[in-house]
Amino acid sequence: MTRTAPPTPIRGTAAGLTALSAHTADETCLEARDITRRFPLGGGLLRGMLGGSVARSIQAVDGVSVRIRRGETFSLVGESGCGKSTLARIVAGLDAPSSGTIRFADARLPGHRIQMIFQDPYASLNPRYRVGTTIAEPIRFQKLLPAKAVVPRVHELLRQVGLAPADAAKFPHEFSGGQRQRVSIARALAGNPTFLICDEPTSALDVSVQAQILNLLRRLQHELGLTCLFISHNLAVINYVSHDVGVMYLGRLVEVAPTRVLFDAPKHPYTQLLLAALPRLETRARERAPISGEIASPLDPPSGCAFHPRCPHAYARCREERPELHDEPDGSRVACHAIAERRIPVSIVSARVAAHA
Ligand SMILES: Nc1ncnc2c1ncn2[C@@H]1O[C@H](COP(=O)(O)OP(=O)(O)O)[C@@H](O)[C@H]1O
Ligand code: SF4
Ligand SMILES: [Mg+2]
Repeated sequence: MTRTAPPTPIRGTAAGLTALSAHTADETCLEARDITRRFPLGGGLLRGMLGGSVARSIQAVDGVSVRIRRGETFSLVGESGCGKSTLARIVAGLDAPSSGTIRFADARLPGHRIQMIFQDPYASLNPRYRVGTTIAEPIRFQKLLPAKAVVPRVHELLRQVGLAPADAAKFPHEFSGGQRQRVSIARALAGNPTFLICDEPTSALDVSVQAQILNLLRRLQHELGLTCLFISHNLAVINYVSHDVGVMYLGRLVEVAPTRVLFDAPKHPYTQLLLAALPRLETRARERAPISGEIASPLDPPSGCAFHPRCPHAYARCREERPELHDEPDGSRVACHAIAERRIPVSIVSARVAAHA
């Protein structure tokens, strides 16, 4: 295939797709520092409903720092509204942070390109264009190839995502949801990205199709040596694709760890609850432990640790002092007073998780 820069093989084939958590080169590709994003509240209705007194802005992302190694996948997980997409859009350059910095190590290299895949494939597919035209657009727009090479490249991309060259003549509505997501992946790859952002790429798909798309993304990431920021609210999906995981709660990272460490020894009470809520094949629905309480509003976040109203381990300090991430001996970083003070054991659910894996 034609690329401006040949992909570097990142992991040996022996490591293969099953050993995603083994880090290789410790080369930073992306460094996001202390990213904050506030959305000012409009005048009118919302502020009126709040009496104009509670908050003047929504703190969607609050002091998040992330480092992603070249050729690896860093995943963000957390409930809806915790700020994942806002952070992704900032990394993609589609939105600017209120404060903080984003640094790509390769930003000045000509081959450095970022592409994004969204939950809804229609977001990147024009319903009135044949998909071949849509896939070709980034190639033509960025003048990546001479005109006569565009169509063969589109056919190659379609094959790469498991579709047929003849599909180039079809319109988006002629595909199933999973096929449509394959088309938007082909379009993202057409721009020869070195950095790929996937925001809930399988959340809108049938469960049976999700695994196929995840397999495809994982294979392409591996083959092309892409660095990925992957977003999902689903920990099972995260477990499958990530080298490192960041757990977000109300705009903040509460735990960051290599995937294996996170699943074997989850530490933050929120991570533990998310893992306990993971459905297991042999568990009937009513036996699953739901996370109690509503996620608080970013309009009016709780004092101290924002998780304290839902946390079974909360104590006085949690209501007053906001916990910062601290390093744990196993390579994870956790923002929790009770963990830092060793008031609670770190792996209440690890046995269950091991059984699940
Ligand atoms: N453009 C915007 N204007 C105002 N509020 C926004 C905007 N985008 C996101 N938000 C708010 O920021 C918070 C985080 O949203 P988002 O990043 O979409 O979360 P997630 O992707 O984790 O579901 C939410 O409270 C959301 O309502
Ligand atoms: S800091 Fe306190 S409230 Fe927050 S997660 Fe830890 S124990 Fe729970
Ligand atoms: Mg989102």
